[in-house]
Amino acid sequence: MRLITLVLAALLAACGNDPSPPSGHPTHSGRADPHSFSRPEEARTRHVSLDLTVDFERRVLEGEVTLTLEGHAPQLTLDTRELVISGVNSGDTALEWSLGDARGALGQPLVIQTPGSVDSVTVAYRSSPEATGLQWLDPVQTAGGNHPFLFSQSQAIHARSWVPLQDTPQVRFTYDALIRTPAELRAVMSAHNDPEAEKTGTYQFQMPQAIPSYLLAIAVGDLEFRAMSDRTGVYAEAPVLESAVWEFSDTEAMMRVSEELFGPYLWGRYDLLILPPSFPFGGMENPRLSFITPTVLAGDRSLVALIAHELAHSWSGNLVTNATWDDLWLNEGFTVYLEARIMEVVFGEQRRAMEDVLGYENLVAELAELDEADQHLKLDLAGRDPDDAFSNVPYEKGRLLLVYLENAFGRETFDAYLRGYFDRFGFKSLGTAEFLADVQAHLLNPNPGVVSLADLDAWIHQPGLPPTVVVPQSNAFAAVDRQRTRWMQGEIAAAGLDTRDWTVHEWLYFVNNLRGMSAEQMAELDQAYQLTATRNNEIAHSWLLKAIANGYAPANERIEQYLRTIGRNKLIVPVYAALMDSDWGQEMARRVYAEARPTYHPLTQSRVDGIVGWVEVQE
Ligand code: BES
Ligand code: ZN
Repeated sequence: MRLITLVLAALLAACGNDPSPPSGHPTHSGRADPHSFSRPEEARTRHVSLDLTVDFERRVLEGEVTLTLEGHAPQLTLDTRELVISGVNSGDTALEWSLGDARGALGQPLVIQTPGSVDSVTVAYRSSPEATGLQWLDPVQTAGGNHPFLFSQSQAIHARSWVPLQDTPQVRFTYDALIRTPAELRAVMSAHNDPEAEKTGTYQFQMPQAIPSYLLAIAVGDLEFRAMSDRTGVYAEAPVLESAVWEFSDTEAMMRVSEELFGPYLWGRYDLLILPPSFPFGGMENPRLSFITPTVLAGDRSLVALIAHELAHSWSGNLVTNATWDDLWLNEGFTVYLEARIMEVVFGEQRRAMEDVLGYENLVAELAELDEADQHLKLDLAGRDPDDAFSNVPYEKGRLLLVYLENAFGRETFDAYLRGYFDRFGFKSLGTAEFLADVQAHLLNPNPGVVSLADLDAWIHQPGLPPTVVVPQSNAFAAVDRQRTRWMQGEIAAAGLDTRDWTVHEWLYFVNNLRGMSAEQMAELDQAYQLTATRNNEIAHSWLLKAIANGYAPANERIEQYLRTIGRNKLIVPVYAALMDSDWGQEMARRVYAEARPTYHPLTQSRVDGIVGWVEVQE
């Protein structure tokens, strides 16, 4: 027995990528976070003070962090990942510390001895050039081309790769920061940014609202600012600034609608930061300053639902925060629902309906591929890297649950519930079980006989979509279906399709639903509508996937160019996967990846490495 235990322990230790749960210890409210070594039930961080130098030559952040604590225990455990720690003290007193073994994506626990009444600790450290939460860009990877760029992406568990802290969404802290950069660059953070600040190379930030660690964010580059309204504006490199201001000029209108629907915006300013194309997400809801991919700069405002989404997180996510990454749907499902509500008011019901259908179709396609356990709203990610389990389920299935509740209880009742939810849980974190108790107390019980707990259970703890799903419909798309059918049946030529009134959404729906195309049919469409050459990245994504599936070789050059210039996971991961699935595209995928890999974000690299079977050649 003893031997078996030893062998098992050795096997587990050998498995370097195993992010198995530290101990599943409960927090103060009884919700274990399997992705943090910290023990906030003993002592919690209330304030974080950063003093960091941004060193582009060495690709490190170096300096110190002071954590102000509430509560006290003889030991304090922080999360770290590939950090080099040079010392820990509390005021003038040096503290003993040690780093535990590395556990894959969880990183290493930093255990600090805190005897007596230690109420703050200061850790001197530097990050690794390979920090998973940072991307260091060479000038050629930026829009301006003359200066380097740095940005962070902390969600889900990457803040620990650039700051040693209690890296769990159950701990909230205010923060301040002193950031030193090369003098010609500007630093911005998920904090109060002063649009008027001179470029001096020394920047000070205050964040008076308490945030969880995954919302800690920094970016440094040759950034300029342009106001859109007195509380919204854009930070971007000069070459993209004007087009971004034009593209996102509805931001203030979106804010007004959101406040009307969900309650006051509690964060002060709302600015957008436009990142270089290697940013791995569409957007990231860093408080006061959403980080945005430039791939949505379509020139026609067609992809601005992304802004509604990141803005909506100011309520769902940033105000009411998922307790663990198993509960991600409470952040993302609510946010996709709020996003749709904003889009409906700002751009009309028809646009909202089209976006709903497109999201639903993506979900249905993905459900067909996913393991059953990953189809539950409430996930069980203990022992897994949350990045590996990322899917549309928390987003679209989560949204559909809220649409179902809205339909069942009526909009007025449901909206009142939503408002109450944001009031009750503002600046708190919430697990799925607590959500269920809340929805029961405030929606189900006061309105008996409408929705049962069993109905909810099917959504939350079962795979697939339950029978209560309200499938979104769009009249505009029904018209697209009729056109497509006429062409497919040979009644009209491709050039004869009545596409005059089609927006980007109709095109997306049209392309997504092309099935069993011959290369000739692809060519006919391409000739009529220049789809391979489209400058809309979402349409390009859909079209190139069809080109791969149908062996339409004239798109190959465009596929290569697309994969070389975009780093957004959602747009490139499926394209690499489709190439690897095809019987001709593996060589192309591997060749392009070998070239593009150094320009991709660490997160993108680890996703695509697995898909193309990348093996680092050792010198
Ligand atoms: N918070 C997410 C991004 C995220 C989720 C990062 C989980 C790491 C772990 C962000 O708000 C998001 O959902 N972005 C989407 C936007 C889309 C749904 C409109 C994206 O990047 O595509
Ligand atoms: Zn989101």
